[in-house]
Amino acid sequence: MKPLDPPVEDPMEKKGTFATDLAAIRKRSRENLERGAVTQNYGGDVDTAIALLNEALATEIVCILRYKYHAVAATGIASESVKEEFAQHAREEEEHAGFIAERINQLGGSPNFNPDGLTTRAASQYVEGENLVDMIRENLIAERIAIEHYRDLIRYFSDKDPTTRTILERVLAQEEEHANDMHDLLVTHEGKPMLKR
Ligand SMILES: [Fe+2]
Ligand SMILES: [Fe+2]
Repeated sequence: MKPLDPPVEDPMEKKGTFATDLAAIRKRSRENLERGAVTQNYGGDVDTAIALLNEALATEIVCILRYKYHAVAATGIASESVKEEFAQHAREEEEHAGFIAERINQLGGSPNFNPDGLTTRAASQYVEGENLVDMIRENLIAERIAIEHYRDLIRYFSDKDPTTRTILERVLAQEEEHANDMHDLLVTHEGKPMLKR
């Protein structure tokens, strides 16, 4: 009878292997210092990560501009509290842009704040809206675009780049809050519930 193949050894379980790896890590870490936080075991493709993050940055910039415009231009009865909500969202979109730009920098890239081609790079759209309800609706649509986009990015980064994923998860959670806020405002100002409860 043919003898069974010996079990495949898991290198991580072999005693002392990790210490050997650690020595290699120490050696490698002294090389390529110009790459900063990007080490040899970075799981993804750094250039792709930077390009994707620059698209997310453009999306955030468009969201800042749209909310800023709405915070100033909204008029009508009961617009004051809505204007404050738009202004609050604009501030939070600015924070998101900051997190993303910092991450691009950590990855050795350059955050693209260039207004040329901004709307082409962005996933969300800049729509001014004709009246208060239109503005709220456009923001809800933009948030839903951002949510879908971030979910896809989070899946892409998964364990390739846990830091980027964690940053995007934090941003996604806030976009979901924004969408919910816009939904609630739409219900208040359109006077009809949109979600079945
Ligand atoms: Fe955002
Ligand atoms: Fe948002």
